[in-house]
This record gives sequence, C-alpha cells and structure tokens, in this order.
Amino acid sequence: MALIELKDVSKLYGFGDATTLALDEVNLTIEKGEFVAVMGPSGCGKSTLMNVIGLLDRPSHGTYSLSDKAVARLRPNNAAKIRRDTIGFIFQSFNLLPRLTALENVALPLTYKGLSVQKRLKRASQMLDRVGIQSREYFLPSQLSGGQAQCAAIARALVNNPKLIIADEPTGNLDSESSRLVMELLADIHKMGNTILFVTHNPELTRYATRVVYMHDGSIIHDEKTTIGRVAITARRALYSQPQTNEEDDLAGVSSLMKALPSKTPKRKKRASKVAAKPVKRHKKVIAARSKKS
Ligand SMILES: Nc1ncnc2c1ncn2[C@@H]1O[C@H](COP(=O)(O)OP(=O)(O)O)[C@@H](O)[C@H]1O
Ligand SMILES: [Mg+2]
Repeated sequence: MALIELKDVSKLYGFGDATTLALDEVNLTIEKGEFVAVMGPSGCGKSTLMNVIGLLDRPSHGTYSLSDKAVARLRPNNAAKIRRDTIGFIFQSFNLLPRLTALENVALPLTYKGLSVQKRLKRASQMLDRVGIQSREYFLPSQLSGGQAQCAAIARALVNNPKLIIADEPTGNLDSESSRLVMELLADIHKMGNTILFVTHNPELTRYATRVVYMHDGSIIHDEKTTIGRVAITARRALYSQPQTNEEDDLAGVSSLMKALPSKTPKRKKRASKVAAKPVKRHKKVIAARSKKS
C-alpha cells in the first residue's frame, strides 16, 4: 500500500485571464520510508504540491489517497484532523510563534491530544533534547540562531510522531553548516522509518535523498531513484552547468559522514542528460516571458 497516491491532480488559482495552473495533472506515488527531494525552478509548483499533499490545500481536479484513504475532497475540519495526526511540517521561515518559548512552540501540536500540560512540556523537552537544543528550551525564537530555530521547528514537526514529514525549503534561510545539521537531523529521522518529502534548490542536498522528483510548469518532468550519499544524476548535471559554483563550494556543505561514502561518479545515462538539459532552457523561457509581461 502506497503512503501517498496522486492521480491526475491539478491545482488552479484565480479566475479567467488570471488563472494559474500551478499543478498540471500530476501523478505521483510515494511509498512509506522514501526520502524524496523535490526540485525545480521558482514558481513551478513545488510548494503547491507540498500543500496539496500536506492537506493545507485542496486539488482542483484529480484524486489523492493518503494511507489508502481518499482525502482530496475532505471538509476543512476533517482535513485539519488528519493533518494534525499524520503530518509534520517544516517551513523555510521556521514559522515559530514569536511570543512562545522554544519549549511551548514544540508542545503546541500536543494541545489536542488530551495530555496534561506537564506531560506535554515533558514530551516537548525530550524532543528538543533529540534535536540537540534542550539547553535553549526557555529561549524565545528571536533569541535562537537560524539553525537552532529550524531545529525547534523540526522538534515541533516530530512531537506528534507523524507518518509523513513535509519540509518546504527547510534549509533555504540557513548557512551551509546549519543546513548540514538540519539535513542530518532529517536523515536520522528517515533512518527511523519515517517518510520525508523536502523541497530544495541545492543539488548537493540530493545526497540525502532516496529519490528526486523534478518539476517544471506544474508537471513532474523527471523522477529518479538515487543512492544516499550521491548527488542525483540530473541534479549533478544542473550543478556543474552552473558556472558560479565550484566543486569545493558544493562539497563544503556535505557532512563528513556523506564524504566518507563512496563518491564515484555514476555513469551518465543518455536519457537523464537529455531531460536535464530541458529545465534550464525552459526556465529561461519562462523568465523571459514573465519579464515581458511585467
Ligand atoms: N495562493 C495562490 N494564489 C494564486 N497563485 C498562486 C498561489 N500560490 C501559488 N500560486 C502560483 O502558482 C504557481 C506555483 O507556485 P508555487 O507552488 O509556490 O511554486 P514554487 O514553490 O515551485 O516556487 C506560481 O505561478 C504561483 O504564482
Ligand atoms: Mg515554494
């Protein structure tokens, strides 16, 4: 039984001339235990896909089953309940409540569990310990570094023991050292059997994933199973076709653990390189079209 199954899922925003087709008949099946990186240019629909899968948004067309339950047409209250019990979210901007301490932020998702305040705070404290920032539990978000704030957000996402973790650009606001910390935390969580979906622009981070899904203009244009420790073949092509980065910079964010793994360059398949050439070219076209419009 697949954990996630999307069939012909489309998502439209707006009306008439102003309609945006954010997802265009997407088909995607994700099994329990996968660690999926979603990549693609800005505006291609990655967040929309995360929001649909995370039941924050409903598809306009198509079907979605989560653990074999049809969830595409749920009422908001039912969607919220499944979301609370099944899914943990991590966002680029951490989304911690500024007036609550790290501990109180992490305890928030437990509000609906019928636990006493003491039990909630104890569990939250254990989660903060797990992500390595228990000593910061009484700090406000503004008193935490970016990396610590994201660790607190990860603790909050995990405190309910969700089946699925969705992270939309979790390292987007972090320096390379904090990015590494956050990705290794996610890798640990994955090792314990959790399913993780994360959006990234950094091809290096595909080393952590077991699968990479590439999107363009609301569609999935390539889907690649990958080996943990290696940059995905298509992402590697994109990485080395960017003249502004060099290999040393790219490796700077990779942990010693990942470096220790064999890094033999896999043979490039013809098919993969053909597909890889596409997004860059098409993305430029989209940018050109957009700047003409504005
Ligand atoms: N709430 C919304 N209302 C209108 N358009 C939206 C909304 N959310 C996203 N879009 C549009 O849908 C497209 C996909 O957006 P998004 O999923 O955020 O892309 P990405 O995360 O890949 O950058 C974009 O053209 C964006 O402008
Ligand atoms: Mg986005």
